[in-house]
Parts: sequence; structure tokens; C-alpha cells
Amino acid sequence: MKLLVELYIVVHMLMGAPLDVLVDARHPLPLWFDPGPHSDAVSALEDLISEAGDAGIKAIVYSGYRSYSKQGSAVEREWRERPSTAGFYVAEPGYSEHQLGTAFDLVWPGLQVEFSDPRNEQLYIWLEENAHHFGFVLSYPYKEIEGWPYNNRWMPQVTEFIHEPWHIRYVGISLAEEIFAAGYLDPQNSVLPQDYYQPWAGISP
Ligand code: DAL
Ligand code: ZN
Repeated sequence: MKLLVELYIVVHMLMGAPLDVLVDARHPLPLWFDPGPHSDAVSALEDLISEAGDAGIKAIVYSGYRSYSKQGSAVEREWRERPSTAGFYVAEPGYSEHQLGTAFDLVWPGLQVEFSDPRNEQLYIWLEENAHHFGFVLSYPYKEIEGWPYNNRWMPQVTEFIHEPWHIRYVGISLAEEIFAAGYLDPQNSVLPQDYYQPWAGISP
């Protein structure tokens, strides 16, 4: 039995998760799923960063693959340092797309993940306009809603976490183009990338 479990784990690690697997508050990944960075996602990211560079936009990876335990340390630090808001922008271990190896937080070199610096702003506008050509989507796009507090800039509204213009996820070019064409970046359109994802039926936590 132990051998079968180990075999199951090894096969899932080698195959990775489907690119469109849903990871959200109701669809966690198991502790043992520890695939490392996804090779197609990394090479698409290299192409993206290089093309951004040609347009005068600089980008580096602030945070990429995070294992279950690394996510745990990140969460603990956030709860310690910013207890009132940590839950708005850091997922609990098992609930982060970073564990897939296909999600990356990008910043202008030398900056943190933040909105206010004009260099990051330039980068994030470029990502909105171009990331889909490389197979990426922004997992937590900016949304405006009629109810208080009107948008997801400071509090999660519509998206599960606050707007994160730095967080992109690789889903492959055709799905990224489809999600883009559906208008997910329109603040008034409630469509989200997550609407296009599937629970990972083959996995048991
Ligand atoms: N910041 C995103 C939501 C994460 O922790 O995966
Ligand atoms: Zn992220």
C-alpha cells in the first residue's frame, strides 16, 4: 500500500498539475504536491521578460514557486507583521497558485510588490496588455463593484484576494487568449480567470 501511495505521488509530481487546475478557497492542493517551477511556464516567462525589455519595461521575479511549507512561512510572517490584512493577500498553505509552479509575482528591479511606484505601474499596464500573448493571465484583476468599498484595491471584492497586478499565472496561450477575449480585465465585467479552471479530479489531498 505504501508503495502504491508513493507511486501515486511520484506520478503526479512528474506530470504536474493540468495548466487549468482550479486552486482557490474550496480547492486546495495537498501538502505533498511539490512539483517545483513548471518548465513551460518558466520559458514563457523568459520570453515575456525579454519582450518587455525590448519595450523598455524591466521585470524580475519577486516570488515564483512556493512549496506548501514555504507558503506556510510566508503566511506566518504576514500574520505576524500585518495581522489585520494578511488574509486579504496571502493564501494559506495549500491554497496558493504559487504551489503549482506556474505563478509568478513580477516587479521592476529593486522594487517590492506595490502599486505606487510609477515603474511598477508601467510594468503592470504592460502585463495587462501583453501577458496573454505569452500564455499568462492576471489571477486577481482590478474590479469595481456597486457596493462598498467600490473596488478590490484594498479589500477582496469579486476576486478572492485584493487586486494583485503583479501576480501572473501561466495557463497556455490559447486559454489565456480566450480569457482575455472574454473581458476579464474590464473592471465592470465580473468574469474571472478562475471561471475557466477545473477542479483537479485525479488528486486526493
Ligand atoms: N498572494 C497570493 C494570493 C498567494 O499567496 O498565492
Ligand atoms: Zn503571487
